[in-house]
Amino acid sequence: MRLLLAPMEGLLDFVLRDVLTRVGGADRCVSEFIRITGSLLPDKVYLRAMPELRNGSRTLAGVPVRAQLLGSDPASMADNAANLARLGPEGIDLNFGCPAKVVNRHGGGASLLQDPEQIARVVAAVRKAVPAQVPVSAKMRLGFNDRLKMIECARAMQDGGACEIVVHARTKLDGYRPPAYWEEIPRLREAVSVPVVANGEIWTVQDALRCREISGCDDLMLGRGIVADPGLALAIRAAVAQGGDAGAATLGWQELVPQVQRFWQMVCEDLEPRQRAGRLKQWLNLMRRRFPEAEAAYQEVRTQTEQRVVSAWVAALPQRDWSKG
Ligand SMILES: Cc1cc2nc3c(=O)[nH]c(=O)nc-3n(C[C@H](O)[C@H](O)[C@H](O)COP(=O)(O)O)c2cc1C
Repeated sequence: MRLLLAPMEGLLDFVLRDVLTRVGGADRCVSEFIRITGSLLPDKVYLRAMPELRNGSRTLAGVPVRAQLLGSDPASMADNAANLARLGPEGIDLNFGCPAKVVNRHGGGASLLQDPEQIARVVAAVRKAVPAQVPVSAKMRLGFNDRLKMIECARAMQDGGACEIVVHARTKLDGYRPPAYWEEIPRLREAVSVPVVANGEIWTVQDALRCREISGCDDLMLGRGIVADPGLALAIRAAVAQGGDAGAATLGWQELVPQVQRFWQMVCEDLEPRQRAGRLKQWLNLMRRRFPEAEAAYQEVRTQTEQRVVSAWVAALPQRDWSKG
């Protein structure tokens, strides 16, 4: 079983990738997307989205990171992929799932799911442009407004040379509304011979086990669920190793406090001052879903903007008595 961290623009950046891969359980990450609109991008754009390129395409904890490209023009995607390949990414992942209007209006992301032939051209152009040892993978939704072209799209990715397909089991129209339709995935898996990875709405070990059973996929991609519960990948592994016992414990809040501290330290070192407090609140906000302590922490820090105050608060977290809420 492989467990991958989902690409999440504005959320799962290199800081959180480092923290989550340090906790453990994930086999690979994907960078935030690098949008290709025509021109050849300077190296600094790739390096900004994926600082791990300076570290052998690995997080500081040593987990490989794949570079994510988003675009619809085969020639410029190929040129940029070749340029990026010089920097040594572990692989290149192509985004055919982004629902953003501004991206779709220009024919990128999920809007390509309406045009499987163009998908094949984009994948083939990128595949041809980068050295054979650099894997090219793709990520899709079930479709744009409906699922009618789902199989054609997956085959187009495979025919273009993608070595793996991640399926976020919803259409663009479904947005992020639960449920994810894991039951659609077996049909797609049967239509292609490359590995298919299931993604969408995996928040708990129970969800992961059900998703594997229903989709028939061994491999999963975890998004918001592992940000909310950083021990999720470890817990899924433990449950699968124990023959599907969903009772396997996730990491407790006390074990996460040092990770929150590390996160804050990295945010202060690497991000712009105006982004820092917001990033901490964003993560705590998602963790509220799993940890009552995160709810209490979020309420305490919610209105703080000053770095000095937040730093003092973070430093005192290990001494805080969480039993008082
Ligand atoms: C804030 C946010 C940003 C995302 N950015 C990307 C992206 O850049 N590329 C992509 O392929 N998917 C992106 N996604 C989709 C996720 O990778 C994933 O497919 C989706 O969140 C479903 O998985 P989950 O239910 O486990 O979160 C994003 C999702 C969120 C919530």
